[in-house]
Amino acid sequence: ERWDVVVVGSVNADLVVGVDRRPAPGETVLGSDLVVHPGGKGANQAVAAARLGGRAGIVGRVGDDGHGDLLRGALAADGVDLAHLATTPGVPTGVALITIGPDGDNSIIVSPGANARLGPADVEAARAMIAGASVVSFQLEVPLPAVEAAARAAAEAGGRVVLNLSPPAPVPGELLALCDPLVVNEHEAAFLLDGAGDAGELAAALAGSGPRSVVVTLGADGVVVADGEGVTGIPSPKADAVDTTGAGDAFTAALCLRLARGDALRDAARYAARVGAAAVRKPGAQSSYPTPDELPEP
Ligand code: RIB
Ligand code: NA
Repeated sequence: ERWDVVVVGSVNADLVVGVDRRPAPGETVLGSDLVVHPGGKGANQAVAAARLGGRAGIVGRVGDDGHGDLLRGALAADGVDLAHLATTPGVPTGVALITIGPDGDNSIIVSPGANARLGPADVEAARAMIAGASVVSFQLEVPLPAVEAAARAAAEAGGRVVLNLSPPAPVPGELLALCDPLVVNEHEAAFLLDGAGDAGELAAALAGSGPRSVVVTLGADGVVVADGEGVTGIPSPKADAVDTTGAGDAFTAALCLRLARGDALRDAARYAARVGAAAVRKPGAQSSYPTPDELPEP
C-alpha cells in the first residue's frame, strides 16, 4: 500500500476566542463566543493534504473524550487513514487555547495531553504505513523520541522526511540531516542559528548547517527556498487575513504532497504558497483549508 503523505504528529481541539487585546498578568478581558475547531499541527497537515487530493495518513494519539471523537470525525470526513491514530484512556485529548486578535493574528497555548504519550512503540506499530509513504512529515508537538524513530524508519524505507520545527526546540544533528526540507519561520530559523539576518541569509546559513534543503516561511511575504540549486524567493498571493491559525500547516502539507508527486522543491513551494494564502481567508485551521478548485492564482 502507498500513501502520498503520512504525518506523525499532534491532534488537538482548538478552543478559540476573539479578543480586542490580550490580558496582562492579573487582568481580565471579555472575548467573543467560544468556538471549538479541530486542530493540531499533525492533524491539520493530514487534513490539508487529503483535501488537496492526496492519500494521507496520521500517526498520533487522542484521549477517550469528546474532543477525541471530534478530531477523529474530522479526520475521517476528509478521508485520512486513521489506522494508527491510537487512544490513550484516562488522558485528555490535546487542547490548544487560542486567542485571535483584531488583525487575525493568533496566540496559542498547547496542552499536549494524549499527544505527549506518543512513543517509539507507536512508531513500531505504524512501521508499514511509514515505510509506505512517499513523504513523512513531522512537527514538534509530540515527543522527540517518536519523531526520531519515525524519521529513521522513513529514511530507511527511502521516504522523504519533512520537519517543521514548530514549536521550536533543539533537535539532534542526525535528525536535521534527514530533513529535505526543514521548514521554519523566521523565529524558528533564528532559534536554530542563535542569531538573526534577512530571510535569504537565514535560509542559506541553515542549509549549510545540516538539512538537505530548507524552506523559510515569511507569512504574507512568501517563502525562501534553499537547496542544491541555491536560494530562491517565492512570493505569496495577496490575501486579506481573517485568521492565520494553521496556515503554516496547510503550506507544509501542500509542499509535502507536491514533493510526493515529484515536483522540484521550488515548484512545490510555489503551489504551497497558494494553499497557505487560501487558508488565511477563513476562520480556523482545518475549517479553512482549500480544495484544489479553491486556490488563488499565483
Ligand atoms: O498550527 C496551528 C495549530 O497549532 C493549531 O491547530 C493548534 O492546535 C496548534 O497545534
Ligand atoms: Na484560517
